[in-house]
Amino acid sequence: MDRQAIEKAAGYLRPFMPTPPEIGLILGSGLGVLADEIEEAARIPYEHIPGFPVSTVEGHAGQLVYGRLEGAAVVAMQGRFHYYEGYSLQQVTFPVRVMKALGVRELIVTNAAGGVNEQFRPGDFMIISDHINLLGTNPLIGPNDPELGPRFPDMTEAYSLRLRELAKETAARLGMRVHEGVYAASTGPSYETPAEIRMIRTLGGDAVGMSTVPEVIVARHAGIEVLGISCISNMAAGMSDAPLHHDEVVETAERVKTDFLRFVKAIVAEMAKS
Ligand code: HPA
Repeated sequence: MDRQAIEKAAGYLRPFMPTPPEIGLILGSGLGVLADEIEEAARIPYEHIPGFPVSTVEGHAGQLVYGRLEGAAVVAMQGRFHYYEGYSLQQVTFPVRVMKALGVRELIVTNAAGGVNEQFRPGDFMIISDHINLLGTNPLIGPNDPELGPRFPDMTEAYSLRLRELAKETAARLGMRVHEGVYAASTGPSYETPAEIRMIRTLGGDAVGMSTVPEVIVARHAGIEVLGISCISNMAAGMSDAPLHHDEVVETAERVKTDFLRFVKAIVAEMAKS
């Protein structure tokens, strides 16, 4: 990834940011409402930011929101880029590089995902403990710039144990039921087949989605500590009689958004303290 392009975007954004953001947020389908809670906000449409792709899917607003959340300086992506939209994985993950250049040290990545684990129900939250990359590619393929990170980054603890514990303690304090599990990424845009879902379950996946893994790989390459939270928006293909529809994903996210906001804000408050 081109350091000049990263610096150009960061240079454009810095004047909007009186204190460098320490926490980054990537908000998934229907979960962008969290960015509306950011105070003293500067909202910067992606199309104004040099080098940023422009997001296309409904339910994704497409702006960077900087400001204060629970006392922390944060920068949030309200709407993200997906591989299935036709962007390269370098484009999909460019905003993570820019966040790093702006000062972000901790990243909360959220998504809507299909439940693969039979214990899950739509509307449940899952703290991501690990991932399985089924994209068949990797955002770090190509020349490596050692200034940005190592050639062969370790993925042993892609999802920070410290932040997972913090999230679990926060959920317990709020009396919220959360699961912990493995997120499997498929490219989409077609949903998986029931056979693919059985395969993912056999491989150890608990939830399946079309995002997150590229951003997390790049965040780890950049040395950012990551927390991932999935909102289980539907049971994956073949697990219920109903066919899958994107409207269901958005409706579930809409239904649980109050809890989601409470949960993530409480996590940010704890992160701001530590
Ligand atoms: N599969 C893949 N991606 C998803 C799903 C699903 O069932 N639900 C929300 N995103």
